[in-house]
Amino acid sequence: MSTLKERIDKTIANVADFPKPGIQYKDITPLFLDSELSNEIVDAFVEKAKGKIDAVCGIESRGFLYGIQIAQKLGVPFILVRKAGKLPPPTVSQSYDLEYGQATIEVNETYIKDGMRILVHDDVLATGGTAEACAKLVEKCGGKVTQFSFIVNLEFLNGIDKLIPFTEDIVALTA
Ligand code: PRP
Ligand code: MG
Repeated sequence: MSTLKERIDKTIANVADFPKPGIQYKDITPLFLDSELSNEIVDAFVEKAKGKIDAVCGIESRGFLYGIQIAQKLGVPFILVRKAGKLPPPTVSQSYDLEYGQATIEVNETYIKDGMRILVHDDVLATGGTAEACAKLVEKCGGKVTQFSFIVNLEFLNGIDKLIPFTEDIVALTA
């Protein structure tokens, strides 16, 4: 019987030279073709977060997919963190660096209450810039990041270094 990690690894597609030459792309979309595996993934995240969080912040777009399911199973709010210009006011914004240029994400500032314990959830941790920006948004709103969770951590990029100042509770189902 293979472990959950082994089944995730086997299911995720590694695509060479996408979106640019030299990049090995992790395509997580095959996970969603397998409802049984997807249920087990959600359950694994839920188990890690149980009792530790008051809400889930899911990062657009792939952080929405399991993120909302984790929140529903835990019976806590799911808060959409969206790319700039998609959410109506009142929002707060946070910019972060990409390989070339910058990106901005936003959240409705009234959804995160003072002292709320937040799970920041996304599909892949790469450089950590996206998750770090989300954590900064949470703090701007008065919340506290108590856990990060990802399906995949691309360990060689050391994204975790950017997240440890917020919390050392960093869950990755596979590296
Ligand atoms: C990808 C991935 C993470 C982020 C990780 O999202 O889904 O959100 O990059 O990269 P980082 O750790 O280097 O910041 P992308 O911005 O491609 O958008 P998508 O989720 O909408 O596909
Ligand atoms: Mg993303």
